[in-house]
Amino acid sequence: MDRRDFIQKIFSAAATGMALTACSKTSKAQSAESNGSESKTDTLQRKGRTKPMKIVVLAGSPRKNGNTHLMASCFIEGAKEAGHDIYRFDCAHKEVSPCIGCNHCNMNGPCIYDDDFSELRTKLIEADLVAFVSPMYYFGFSAQLKRVIDRFYAINGQIKGASKKAVFMMAYADTAKSEAEAMTLHYKTLIRYLGWQDVGMVIAPGVWTAGSVKNTKYLDEAYQLGKKL
Ligand SMILES: Cc1cc2nc3c(=O)[nH]c(=O)nc-3n(C[C@H](O)[C@H](O)[C@H](O)COP(=O)(O)O)c2cc1C
Repeated sequence: MDRRDFIQKIFSAAATGMALTACSKTSKAQSAESNGSESKTDTLQRKGRTKPMKIVVLAGSPRKNGNTHLMASCFIEGAKEAGHDIYRFDCAHKEVSPCIGCNHCNMNGPCIYDDDFSELRTKLIEADLVAFVSPMYYFGFSAQLKRVIDRFYAINGQIKGASKKAVFMMAYADTAKSEAEAMTLHYKTLIRYLGWQDVGMVIAPGVWTAGSVKNTKYLDEAYQLGKKL
């Protein structure tokens, strides 16, 4: 970072109340767990956990520098600081064929496709928590995330009713809160069907261009959501 960028970053951080990290406005320098002086085991013990959670992050945007990509990264940063193990799956950059409903798997068996979902499959079955992260595309999840969710069909018998937690993060351009309702309802209905427990959502309205979420509170919210786990 050159001097001009540095000064610009300080001024914009001061203006928005953000700290000098991309994700958190809390004083990370004062936090033993984030400055590395606390071990992962100590962090987990302080939270009353005996082992890290296995977290799968399903990131749904094709934009590598996009808003939900950043939200997923901040969530991961917080969750890693909390001592958890993360597996990130950028749905748009993986080969995942859409389910064709052939029923070969009978909702609990091998899929006819051997693609990148094969690796995710085991991770999902073993996960303690799944994070769904998506831009709004015409009031719904991105197709890239949806095609991954549809492939849950082949492991439905193993993940439905399993003791899992879930979180949801989304971004969209419109500023009306009501526009997010269809997606949050979809998420809640999916989680209810699977018998999983929702443990938090971050909804970021009013962000359109890639990276514009940096000027909002939502990266911090994503970070805090990960960190509280
Ligand atoms: C195909 C497409 C459909 C979109 N549909 C909506 C929409 O229905 N409502 C809205 O407010 N924004 C919509 N947007 C804007 C995105 O939700 C917004 O730019 C978001 O921040 C993108 O997230 P990303 O940067 O993580 O990809 C759409 C964008 C695209 C490319």
